[in-house]
Amino acid sequence: MPRVRPSAEENCRACARLAAFRDRIQADHPAYWCKPVPAFGVEEARLLVVGLAPGLHGANASGRPFTGDHAGILLYKTLHHLGLASAAVSAGRNDGLTLCQTRIVNTVKCVPPQNRPLPAEIRQCAPYLQAELARLPKNGVIVALGRVAHEAVVRAHDCRLRDYPFAHGARHELAGRLLFDSYHCSRYNTQTGRLTEEAFVAVFEAAQSARS
Ligand code: URA
Repeated sequence: MPRVRPSAEENCRACARLAAFRDRIQADHPAYWCKPVPAFGVEEARLLVVGLAPGLHGANASGRPFTGDHAGILLYKTLHHLGLASAAVSAGRNDGLTLCQTRIVNTVKCVPPQNRPLPAEIRQCAPYLQAELARLPKNGVIVALGRVAHEAVVRAHDCRLRDYPFAHGARHELAGRLLFDSYHCSRYNTQTGRLTEEAFVAVFEAAQSARS
């Protein structure tokens, strides 16, 4: 894993498709953030939560991961329940909410069309995720929200995906760190019952107690 720590360039245009998409959204919504969304939380986190990518009218609008759309409701509620967030609702970048021992990052920092980043876009953004992982302590814990995040984390550790299959509730050991998998807390998953609140909280409880 590289030791470099690239900063998220606010005007990054490395992915032409994503940059053009941002431009189009910005034209329609001048007040939206419409830039790569930076990680949120404490620098020296013990728990790194890895999401997919900013939602069009959520993180892409607010500039904070999982903030402004349905996907963040269960995440921040759960973090608050476990004492890892100062409030149960993330209302916006300037709401004063703080995280404790926790950091949230997306696999891809720019909003993708249809919520689906392409493999080349995931690869392009990988150094940012690698930099986040590199600063996590050796006994740090990662929670991957969804398969895309899981695979990006496994690849970032130079491990083979077939040795680390994604499954809700799975616990993997990666170069001394623990990776816990959860289904993504998307509106689709929570409203269809694929992901229940209990099943989501259980993953975070397991992650929190793993090395405390
Ligand atoms: N918002 C984010 O920031 N990330 C996701 O994965 C989904 C919504």
